[in-house]
Amino acid sequence: MKSSPWWKEATIYQIYPRSFFDSNGDGEGDLPGITSNLEYVQQLGVDAIWLSPFYTSPNKDGGYDVADPRDVDPRFGDLEDAKKLIDRAHQLGLRVLADIVPNHFSDQHIWFQAALKAGRGSAERARFHFYDANSDGTPPNNWISLFGGPSWTQVEDGQYYLHLFDSSQPDLNWDNPEVNADFEKTLHFWIDLGVDGFRIDVAHGLVKEDVLKNHPDPQGLSNALRLDVDMDPEKRNSLLQSVPYFDRQGVHEIYRKWRLLFDSYGDREIMAVAEAWVHPPVNATRYVRPDELHQVFNFDLLTADFDASVLYDVIDRSINLNATVNALPTWALSNHDSPRVASRIGSDQARALALFVFGLPGSTYIFAGQELGLPDGELADSDRQDPSFFRTNGEIKGRDGARVPIPWNGEIAPFGFSTGKPWLPISQSWSEMTVEKESNDAKSSLHLYKNALALRREHLSSQGEIEWTESPHHGLKSNELLSYKRGAISVIMNLSNEPQECDVAGKLLVVSAGTVDAHNGKKVIPARSCAWFIS
Ligand code: GLC
Ligand code: CA
Repeated sequence: MKSSPWWKEATIYQIYPRSFFDSNGDGEGDLPGITSNLEYVQQLGVDAIWLSPFYTSPNKDGGYDVADPRDVDPRFGDLEDAKKLIDRAHQLGLRVLADIVPNHFSDQHIWFQAALKAGRGSAERARFHFYDANSDGTPPNNWISLFGGPSWTQVEDGQYYLHLFDSSQPDLNWDNPEVNADFEKTLHFWIDLGVDGFRIDVAHGLVKEDVLKNHPDPQGLSNALRLDVDMDPEKRNSLLQSVPYFDRQGVHEIYRKWRLLFDSYGDREIMAVAEAWVHPPVNATRYVRPDELHQVFNFDLLTADFDASVLYDVIDRSINLNATVNALPTWALSNHDSPRVASRIGSDQARALALFVFGLPGSTYIFAGQELGLPDGELADSDRQDPSFFRTNGEIKGRDGARVPIPWNGEIAPFGFSTGKPWLPISQSWSEMTVEKESNDAKSSLHLYKNALALRREHLSSQGEIEWTESPHHGLKSNELLSYKRGAISVIMNLSNEPQECDVAGKLLVVSAGTVDAHNGKKVIPARSCAWFIS
C-alpha cells in the first residue's frame, strides 16, 4: 500500500532568505547561507522548507515584488546556488517549497516596462489593469491599497494601473491567458529544477470584479482587512463578506488547472499551499477541494488570544471545516507578515501553544527563529523597510520586527549571522537565544522543538482524529485547561498562571516548561505550559 503523501502531516520550516544566514558579509542572508545551514534545519526534525522569494527583484516588498520569476536575485546568489540548495536539501531528506507570487509583478518586470512604453490600448497593457482616469482626473475607482494609500498609480500618459499592494507591484490581469501561460512556465521551471511544491502568495487575490466601481466604504474595508485594527466583529463580518478583489469564484478555475500541472509529475507528489485570507472561514475549504490545492493556510492562530475557549473554537472549527472537503488543516503561529508569537502572547505561552499544535492532525508551519523563541526585533523607525510603513507615513509600523535575522553564535550581535552590518539590526539582548546557546541548554526552546518534533514523528503521524477531553464542551469552566487525546497520546495545556491538577493516565513524554509533579494521584501541570502523556 502506498503511504500517505509526504505533505499530509508534515512540519514545514519557513525560511526568509534575507534573514537566515549571510555567506558573503554583505549583511543580507543568501542561498549559499541557507545551504550551509541545512543540517541545522534537518536536525530540528522538520520534513520540508518553504523559501520566501529569492527571485530577481528591486526588493521594494521583501522580494514579493518579482521582476523575473525564473531567476535568482544577485543578492541571494544565482540559479546554480538554487540548484545546490535544493539538491542538498534532498540529500538531507528535506523537501523544498518555493514561493510563487501570481497576483502581481514588480514594476521592473519586462512586461510592465513594455506596457509603459506601448501605451494605452496595447496588448502589453492588457496584461495588467490599466484604465483611463475619470473625467475629473481621479483614479478609476476608490479602492485603497493593502499597504495604505490609493491602489491606483498614474503613468505619464494619464492612465492608471491597479496595485493592491505597493505602487511598485502592478496587479496582473488574470483574464488574459498570457498571464496563466507565463505562470505555468514558471511552475514547470522550478519543478524541473527540483522543488517539491509551492506556497502561493495572495492566492485569493488573482481575479478582480467590478474594477470600475467604487466601493461603498473603502476605508472601512481597508481597516477590516487589517489584523491590527480592532473593529466591531459584526461590522468586520459584513465588510468582509464580499471584497471585489478577493476570493472571487474565478480563482478556483486557475487552481484546477494548476492541479493538473502538479499531478502530471505523478510520484513526485508536488504540492501547493494557498495563502488565502478569506471570509467567512468556510470559504477557505474551497481552495482544498480534491481537484484544487493541497493545503490552505489557517491564519486564526496568528491572532488568537491565549484563551481556552478562543483556541478551542478556532482549532475545532478548522478541523471540522477541512473535513468537509476531506482535507487536513494547517497550523501556523508566526510568519514573516505578523508579530512573532513569543511577543504576541508571551514566551511561556508560545512554547505551550507550539507543543499543543504539534499534536494536532494536519501540517504545521514553523517560521525560522520561532524554534528559538525569538521575540520581534526592536527597531528604530530609521531601520524600517516595510512599504506599509512608508505608505502610511509611519502609522503602520510594518512587519520588519518579525524579519530580524537569526542569531547563530557568539556573544556579540550580530551573533554570526553576518561578518558585515545586518540589513536589520539584531539586539544585543538576544545573546542568550542564539542557536549555539540553545543547543547547549536542555531547557531551551530549541530543545523543546526538537524533542516535540521527534515525538510527533514517532507517535503522532497519521493517528487520525483528536478527541477533546477538556474543552468548553467538556466541563471547561475557568479557561484553565484545554486537552485532547490522539492515539495513545494525551495533550494537556494549562493556560492559567497557577499550576493545575488534572486526571490524566500515562507517562509524561514532554512538557513545555517546568516539571510535572504528582499530587493526590493527579498530575500537576505547571502554569502556562503544555504536556504530552502516553498511555
Ligand atoms: C503576501 C506576502 C507578503 C507580501 C504580500 C504582497 O501577503 O506574504 O509578505 O507583502 O503578499 O506580495
Ligand atoms: Ca549575503
